[in-house]
Amino acid sequence: MQERTLAIIKPDAVERRLTGRIIQRIEDEGFQIRAMRRIHLSTREAEGFYAVHRERPFFSSLTRFMSSGPAIVLVLEAPDAITKWRTLMGATDPARAEPGTLRKEFAQSIERNATHGSDAPETAAHELGYFFAGIDLV
Ligand code: CMP
Repeated sequence: MQERTLAIIKPDAVERRLTGRIIQRIEDEGFQIRAMRRIHLSTREAEGFYAVHRERPFFSSLTRFMSSGPAIVLVLEAPDAITKWRTLMGATDPARAEPGTLRKEFAQSIERNATHGSDAPETAAHELGYFFAGIDLV
């Protein structure tokens, strides 16, 4: 059964001109890109997106980073898309990411880790709705 997940190519990767290589990997893995947009989040918008992490020590640094420059948001579709995209990204901390994963290849640190992906179906529904309207996905 097809599933959708939210992917973000984060400001570190966009700034380093890695967008094309990351999108190529997404397509090579068989995802359909159902929607895609370039955005530059405000601090408040980044805080809203990462609200579940607001008590974490890295929250203010994370939201500053995520609003520091443009990012690309995408809706990816595939069977088991949530797990499949998390596998392709690799662990949050690039030091722990498997060889061949996007974060192993492209992340600079646990914060500047190149990509984001939803971690569960409920999170994916919420995160997709944060950036995309139903009409964008027709
Ligand atoms: P992401 O998958 O987008 O989810 C939360 C983000 O917080 C994470 O990727 C990193 O960019 C950032 N972050 C910074 N420090 C940490 C940390 N110690 N643990 C988890 N996430 C962190």
